[in-house]
Amino acid sequence: MHTLVFATNNQHKVDEINSIIGKNIRVITLREAGIDIDIPEPHDSLEANATEKSSVIYQLTHQNVFSEDTGLEVDALQGEPGVKSARYAGEEKNFQANIDKLLSKLGDHPERTARFRTVVSLIWEGKEYQFEGICEGYITSIQKGTGGFGYDPIFIPKGSNNSFAEMSMAEKNQFSHRKKAIVQLIEFLQQQPVL
Ligand code: IMP
Repeated sequence: MHTLVFATNNQHKVDEINSIIGKNIRVITLREAGIDIDIPEPHDSLEANATEKSSVIYQLTHQNVFSEDTGLEVDALQGEPGVKSARYAGEEKNFQANIDKLLSKLGDHPERTARFRTVVSLIWEGKEYQFEGICEGYITSIQKGTGGFGYDPIFIPKGSNNSFAEMSMAEKNQFSHRKKAIVQLIEFLQQQPVL
């Protein structure tokens, strides 16, 4: 069993990842690793923020660590909220306020295509690797469903009629940006002789 620190305290993300990562790897949260910090996300790209998060935690733990940074990119809003997805409506990272702001900015715009993009930064044996996962879809005009988190109630992935918030975790994983990036992470890890 190999322990990998996941540079997050978002339990939804940890549950999603543990449901797909398999038995050989135990993913632990920052809290379980004994770390209590709000990691900065100061950069203007998902890639740079993911690197920042994994590097900060690696410096603190010197353990293998990965982080991920995700943004929702809405075409009619020139890629907003993008890298600002968590704090779109303010520093308090309120999911409902973020949804309200997005729906209000988009109004009844007919072009509603969007994508979730996840960048994973892995620091493995001291060296960084990045993996990307994308889920194309579109933004609803009203919220649908109560599951999931973040923008899930207003995002319908291509190939479905349901929003992410109307899906079970297994259904969401059939489409999920994070799942696609994590699958690449897992494939990389499986090639490492230590596992
Ligand atoms: P983070 O920086 O990776 O935590 O993601 C930034 C923000 O994107 C989060 O606070 C959520 O609002 C949103 N987000 C990330 N992943 C998802 C998802 O799978 N569904 C809905 N919203 C998400």
